[in-house]
Amino acid sequence: MELPYLEDVSPGTGSLPPRAWYARSDATSLSLNGSWRFRLSPAADTADDSFASDGYDAGAWDTVAVPGHWVLQGHGAPIYTNMVYPFPVDPPRVPTENPTGDHLRTFDLPDDWPTTTIGGATLRFDGVESCARVWLNGTELGEFKGSRLPHEFTVGHLLKPSGNVLAVRVHQWSSGSYLEDQDQWWLPGIFRDVTLLHRPEGCALDFFTHASYDHRAGTGTLRVDSDVDGRVTVPELGVDVATGESVTVDVEPWTAETPRLYDGVLATPGERVPLRIGFRTVAVEDGVIKVNGRRILFRGVNRHEFHPQTGRALDLATMRTDVLLMKQHNINAVRTSHYPPHPAFLDLCDELGLWVIDECDLETHGFTEQGWRGNPVDDDRWTPALLDRAARMVERDKNHASVIIWSLGNECGTGRGLTAMARWIRARDADRLIHYEGDATCADTDMYSRMYADHAEVERIGRREDTDGPRSRRHLPFILCEYGHAMGNGPGGLSEYQALFDAHERNQGGFIWEWIDHGLAHPEFGYAYGGDFGEELHDGNFVCDGLVFPDRMPSPGLEAYKRVIQPVGFAYDAGAGTVRVTNLHDFADLSHLSFEWTYISDDEASEGGELAVPPELGPGESVELKLPDPPLASRDAETFLHLAAMVGVTTTNWTKLDHGVARAEFRVSPRPAIPPATGERPQREGDFITLGPGTFDARTGELHTLNDIPLTSAPRLDIWRAPTDNDNGASWQGGQRNGLVWRELGLHRMQHRLDAVELTDELLTVRTRVAPAARDIGLRTVYRWTSDATRLRLAVSVMPEGEWTVPLPRLGIRLGLPAEYGVAQWFGGGPCEAYPDTAAASDIGTWFMQVDRMQTPYVRPQENGARADVRWAELRAGFDGEGVRVAGEPAFWFTARRWTTEQLDAATHRTDLVPGDTVWVHLDHGQHGIGSQSCGPGVLPQHQLHAAPAEFAFTFARRDAAPQVPPPVGPPPGRTSP
Ligand code: GAL
Repeated sequence: MELPYLEDVSPGTGSLPPRAWYARSDATSLSLNGSWRFRLSPAADTADDSFASDGYDAGAWDTVAVPGHWVLQGHGAPIYTNMVYPFPVDPPRVPTENPTGDHLRTFDLPDDWPTTTIGGATLRFDGVESCARVWLNGTELGEFKGSRLPHEFTVGHLLKPSGNVLAVRVHQWSSGSYLEDQDQWWLPGIFRDVTLLHRPEGCALDFFTHASYDHRAGTGTLRVDSDVDGRVTVPELGVDVATGESVTVDVEPWTAETPRLYDGVLATPGERVPLRIGFRTVAVEDGVIKVNGRRILFRGVNRHEFHPQTGRALDLATMRTDVLLMKQHNINAVRTSHYPPHPAFLDLCDELGLWVIDECDLETHGFTEQGWRGNPVDDDRWTPALLDRAARMVERDKNHASVIIWSLGNECGTGRGLTAMARWIRARDADRLIHYEGDATCADTDMYSRMYADHAEVERIGRREDTDGPRSRRHLPFILCEYGHAMGNGPGGLSEYQALFDAHERNQGGFIWEWIDHGLAHPEFGYAYGGDFGEELHDGNFVCDGLVFPDRMPSPGLEAYKRVIQPVGFAYDAGAGTVRVTNLHDFADLSHLSFEWTYISDDEASEGGELAVPPELGPGESVELKLPDPPLASRDAETFLHLAAMVGVTTTNWTKLDHGVARAEFRVSPRPAIPPATGERPQREGDFITLGPGTFDARTGELHTLNDIPLTSAPRLDIWRAPTDNDNGASWQGGQRNGLVWRELGLHRMQHRLDAVELTDELLTVRTRVAPAARDIGLRTVYRWTSDATRLRLAVSVMPEGEWTVPLPRLGIRLGLPAEYGVAQWFGGGPCEAYPDTAAASDIGTWFMQVDRMQTPYVRPQENGARADVRWAELRAGFDGEGVRVAGEPAFWFTARRWTTEQLDAATHRTDLVPGDTVWVHLDHGQHGIGSQSCGPGVLPQHQLHAAPAEFAFTFARRDAAPQVPPPVGPPPGRTSP
């Protein structure tokens, strides 16, 4: 049976050979973006193409915006699956129910269109998902697949000065869908630009800029190969050579840290094309990836193209925002997971400086469900389609300095087709490296790449002791193309990975999975994820696993990552009063930065000045500097030294003066002891016991009022947290999935049995046992209350009973205050959320924030918002209102929110969380770490919270209303600089 074009395995027919992409030249072009007529059919009726014929009246049709996805414009709905195909796997056949969008656009040529030479014109589609058939003025041009790749057609002979009709039929499903099983929403449509390009006589066709850098000589060698002969000029370098001719000149090299570009022009007889040339040489030497002779370290992210309103149709401003945010968070590399991005994004990477792994639009992950049977990458019939994809990527993007590695695709298993792609790419472009993760033998690649390998394995690999693969592999450099799964709260454990990248030359860093949460804006849910559109098969919120929220607000995970990968290191020697500053850049000196020291104290005093770090300090170099004596250390207050590097001397092209780049803090004097709160006698009066400022229920021993504030919930032991995505883990991950085990054990419904309420001289003791129904495990918990008349101290001791085989989610107390106590101030870690293994960006200071702003708005609600290392915290009625002050012994984790943990746990979307009449306050002695188990390793042993005997105390005092000028309101969790 002959299959229709959408189901045959061919990449398409009728389009031009792939070539270099450029945004501008002096040839005229016409954007065909805008409002198009649109009609959706439930099936791919390939027979009726009458809509494409001259004179068809589409006046009754709806309209959609191009670029765009029709499912985000009121026609049909998006579908989210991670790796399963949302249709039966019977390649290359697709379902009869195949939403098909007919698009029509009429256009006139602009007045300045060179009609005298109308002959040459090309129609370019930059991205259509998943298969398109195209007609111009009633003549069929051809059809194509390869959604995130450009396709061009010759159309000059068909153009009219006015009334041109462009008709495009787009099928959601095609044979190409089998090759595009990336973990993301399925979003059909013409989602990138459509452009008509005038092609004058003698215009440039394809050209390839080769610009290498010899780091020994300090010279660059340029050669532009062009299908059409012409000249290449680079005025700044005095270069004026014929195409195909090499020239060597003194240049400054291009690197991601120093993205030096030279403007040039390729002039063919009929066209002048601007060139942006970056000189750099990438190679593997001695088992290490080097650029311009130096080892580089990837501090990377995986970036899908995503916008909460427009899906994969991104405007230029959004692309620029992504690159700026990355640069501002010390990120130096992007893997374009899992397809070539809009080419304008690569222009920005060239200009602003990011290393790019450009990945081909290829993933066949769903075949793993069939034991990889029928996998297209191991079936010769599909090889032409694979080669077409490889060529379209390489030809389009080959002139970008930022692209240093080609990636064959993602999660395709192994097969001959991949080898064919690698061979073709090597033959076409010998100057870049090849990446592919899915083949453990690394037969086709220049590097060993893995995703989500745990720390121990990364250490082994770093030592070149990975004996589970061929010996040849051990000579290759290593990268983690994905790690640190940023789903929900997290990822944890990044500092420990970074230490392994620093310790072993072979370990050249990695790429966090992933840049952005793909939550689609939704009127009911806030942001929607898989299942919210009624999909039959879906993978829930696994699509929300980014370092920025859907609106691109940085998450605490991004703040932590920024700190972990900061390009300046600080080590303090308290004895000598010196700091060792190390330049951790791979290429740049420190001349763009200024440095600052500050001593800060608990009593809000601070003192600071400039730290004279030599600007010429080169990459990898260190300097030891004497610090001024800690001026505040003699006071009776805990003091910290903060050191910061800021963009200072000049603004960069990615941020302005005073932007924080790196930061560290060190304690220079200890915390003074809290004066004991003893002396008062508890008094029983009827149903109540009074002790200093506290009133207790005499029967239960529960605290009812504190300084006249009626507590809405008495302090008591709490171990439950709304499991994070990383607590819940993924089914395919090894190791215990704590979030599930906790619930199974009943840790979310602990019962508090009262054993005794005892009054002695200076002590009110409440003895309890806290345990889940149906289990014999428990926590014997004793609350001991004392007071010195003005303050009330609670000492909690916890003794586990039975066999605890899981870590505890948290260990602390929770209490409820009336809703008006909605402003927090604390001395401790902030301003952003932190957990034991995500605390890199948590800085000790005095922070001031509304409780509402202490919440981290994960798309699927879960545990969030803890502040680390808190010495004391206050909750006040208004910014200068009265309230409660609590000091911890030792420092504690502080969390406050307007809903309970149970409500947080039950919520599935942000909109489920509605403030109640209580501010719930958690004062935690311990928190379990976060880890990355939603798609990676769990919590490292040193960050786990185990049930063990514990003692901790809190001293409560009244916080008087203070008509004082409050310190500035702390920034929200998503601030962009330290
Ligand atoms: C990887 C895959 C990504 C994404 C991630 C989990 O296996 O390459 O596309 O699915 O896991 O979020």
